[in-house]
This record gives sequence, C-alpha cells and structure tokens, in this order.
Amino acid sequence: MIAEAVSPVATAACSGLAASPKTLPPWLFYDEPGSQLFEQITQLPEYYLTRTERSLFARHANDILTHLASPVTVLELGAGTATKTGILLQAAARLQPSVLYQPIDVSPSALEDARENLQASIPEVTVQPQVANYITEAIRVERARETKVLALYIGSSIGNFAPQEASAILRKLRAQLEPGDALLLGADLAPGPNKSVAQLLAAYDDAAGVTAAFDRNILARLNRELGANFDLAGFTHQARWNPAESRIEMHLVSGSRQTVTIAETVTGAPLDIHFAEDETIHTENSYKFTPERLAALLASADFAVAQTFTDPAELFAVTLAAAVES
Ligand code: AVI
Repeated sequence: MIAEAVSPVATAACSGLAASPKTLPPWLFYDEPGSQLFEQITQLPEYYLTRTERSLFARHANDILTHLASPVTVLELGAGTATKTGILLQAAARLQPSVLYQPIDVSPSALEDARENLQASIPEVTVQPQVANYITEAIRVERARETKVLALYIGSSIGNFAPQEASAILRKLRAQLEPGDALLLGADLAPGPNKSVAQLLAAYDDAAGVTAAFDRNILARLNRELGANFDLAGFTHQARWNPAESRIEMHLVSGSRQTVTIAETVTGAPLDIHFAEDETIHTENSYKFTPERLAALLASADFAVAQTFTDPAELFAVTLAAAVES
C-alpha cells in the first residue's frame, strides 16, 4: 500500500495549533477566497500601503530607471499579477528598445494574467515567468545582453518575515546578482510624526470587516481542507501594535473556552485543540521599518541604499539599493 502524502496545510495546522502560543503561518491566507479578500484589502480606504506605493512609482519611475544609467532586465519576487509593476515597465520601455521582465511567483495563473496584460499593454516587454516559491526554491536570473538587473521586491512583502528570514531572502537574491545591479524594495514605515499607531491599526482592522474576513478565512480553509469544525463566529479578529518588535500582529481571539477537532491530520487520527477563553491564534506579523532599519537590513545582504522615495506623510518607503561587493 502506498501511504498518502501529508498535505503541507495539515503539517502547518497541526504543528502551529499544538504549539503554545498557538500560531498559523500567513501563507495559509492565500487560497482562492483568501487571495480575493486580499485584493479587496488593497482597495480599502484604510489600507494606504498599495495606493501609496503605486503613487511613488508613478512619481519616481523615471528617476528609478535612470539611476541605473544602463538598460535593465527586470526581475520580480512574488510578482502575482504584477499590476503595479506596469508603471515601472512603461518607464523602462520609454528608455530602451526592449525590456525582459522575469516575474517569479508560486501561482501559475497569476503569472499568466501578468504575461497577458503586460504584453498587450507594453509591446516592448517580453515576459518570461518563473513558477517558484522564492523562499524555499532556487531562483534563476536571466539577463538580457548588456543590461543591469533591477530586482523588485515590493508591496511590503518583506514585512511579513522576521528579521532573520528577511535578511536570508535578500541574501539569496543578492547571490544571483552582480555588483552594479539593483534592488527596489517597497516597505511600510514605522509610526512617526505624521503616522499614528491608530492609522496603522485601522489598516489592519478596517471598518468594513474585510481584514477580519481575510483573517478568519484561515479557519474556514482548515474546515474546507482538513475537515476541521471551527465555528467562525467563535473567533474575533484583532490587530495589535507590538512596539518592541515594531510590527502589527494579527490574532484570532477565542470568545469562549472551546474545543475544535481537526479530522485530517499528520498522524491520520483526529486532533482535538483546546482553547481557553481569550486565547489567541497568532496568524501574521507585518513589520514596520525606520529608514535606519531598512538600511541595516539591506547592508546585511550586501546592498547599499542609493535613494529612498517616500510620500509627504512618510507612510511608505520605496528604497533603491545597489548590489555591492560581498
Ligand atoms: C501581503 N502583506 C504585505 C500584507 C501586509 O500588509 O502585511 C498582508 C495583509 N495582512 C492584512 N492586511 C494585509
């Protein structure tokens, strides 16, 4: 008899919910319904991150591209459907006759959408997608002749990793680049004179309840995929500011003492998970950076800050960094 492979979802759920404190990894958010909810989050009035980064690209695309003083090959980690990237590729297409764009993502359908949209709207761009998990798998960088590579890691994705992991991701990318290539990093900023903790909390706990639905979808996914019996109404979404770690944390708070059973587990036997009243499942960290911390993180991976672009309220930063000798 051939044993059935244990799903990564079962492995993650069983180990995270058996731990103390209980956690679930944020990649579990992004099934089909979760990805749609995230798309809605990016359009919420409270979630300033996406539109602020987009406006920084619109304003500074030309400065970013001309800073490299060379034609570029564009590479993107976690590209998804690459909606914001079009702004940068348009600017590149105005400066050079053709642009090779290599989006890397785990989702083949998102990459196909990116290819269709970009090739139709910017004929100078050739899209060469790579289906890969840039955290666990090797990434390849192909460079068009006589170009420098401009690597994009945007959308505040870096913020969902603990500092050590974030540094490891950037070092892995750096290993594929040459001195003189560049990285464009989009990161959300820590609270400051014009950015309150309240504004940050609202971005992760919006009035329409979309982020709450996104957070709870992780439990709905365990019900769908592992035959768990989470009562979604029994858990409340909570966003917390952790000043010591400079991060927003998302938690699901159990409203009562309760037991949830997961039918499909790593051992094959059902698993009972006991919750005390007010006990939480920690589902996500979203780190917020000072310019100094960003520079230190980049330096840990042999990148040197060349230019930083921020909005007037200093909500978000887009940092252009040069790959330097290791
Ligand atoms: C994908 N990532 C950058 C988002 C963030 O802001 O940390 C995920 C998110 N979680 C709640 N809202 C958005």
